[in-house]
Amino acid sequence: MAGPASASAGRIEPVGREIELRTTRLLLRTFSVTDVEDARAYRDDPEFARFLRHIPQPFTREHAEAFVTLNMTEPWETMPTFAIVLEGQLIGTVNLEIDPANHTAMLGYAIARAHWGKGIAVEAATAVIAWAFATHDLAQIWASTDVEHVRSRRVMEKLGMTFDSSDAREVIYRLRR
Ligand SMILES: CC(C)(COP(=O)(O)OP(=O)(O)OC[C@H]1O[C@@H](n2cnc3c(N)ncnc32)[C@H](O)[C@@H]1OP(=O)(O)O)[C@@H](O)C(=O)NCCC(=O)NCCS
Repeated sequence: MAGPASASAGRIEPVGREIELRTTRLLLRTFSVTDVEDARAYRDDPEFARFLRHIPQPFTREHAEAFVTLNMTEPWETMPTFAIVLEGQLIGTVNLEIDPANHTAMLGYAIARAHWGKGIAVEAATAVIAWAFATHDLAQIWASTDVEHVRSRRVMEKLGMTFDSSDAREVIYRLRR
C-alpha cells in the first residue's frame, strides 16, 4: 500500500486503498461498483477502442462489470488503475504497471471520446506520474502506442516524455525521474 505523499499535481489523500488525487478539473480515485454503467457507456465505442484492440466491441454490461471488478481487485502496489472523474462522472482511466525490480513503470490512459481534445489525458496523467514518482522507487516511466496514434503520441510529448524507439507498429516514449 502506498504511503502518504505530496505532489505538485495536487492533493493526495491515501486512506488504505482509497487513494484520491485532485487536479484543477478532475478527481482521480480508485474504482467502485457504482462505475459500471459509466464504464459501459464510454467504452462501448469503436472509435475509442480503435488503438486498444483488447477492448471488445460492442462493450456490454458484462464486459463493464468484469472491467470494474478487475480494476478493484488487481494488486494496487503494482497495477494501480485510477478512475478519472469529471463532475461526478467516470470518463476514463490512468493506469500503471509497476516493475519494482527494474524501477520502471508503464503508463496507460484512456478518455471517453466526448472529452477528447480538452487536455484531460495530460492533466490526469501528470497527477498520476507525480504520485508514482513520489510514492514508488521509480527511475523512469514509459509508454507505448501505435505509430499512427498521433493523439496519444502528442499526450506523451506534452507529459515531457521523449521518443525512445519504434518498430513498424509501436513507438515507445520514456520519462526519467
Ligand atoms: C489518446 C487520448 C488519451 C488523448 O486524450 P485527450 O484528453 O484528448 O488528450 P489531450 O487533449 O490532453 O491532448 C491531445 C493532443 O492531441 C491533439 N489532437 C487532437 N486531435 C488530433 C488529431 N485528430 N490528430 C492529431 N492530433 C490531435 C490535440 O490538439 C492535443 O495536442 P495539443 O494540446 O498540442 O493541441 C484519447 O484520444 C483516448 O483516450 N483515446 C482512446 C483510448 C486510447 O487510445 N488510449 C491511448 C492508448 S496508447
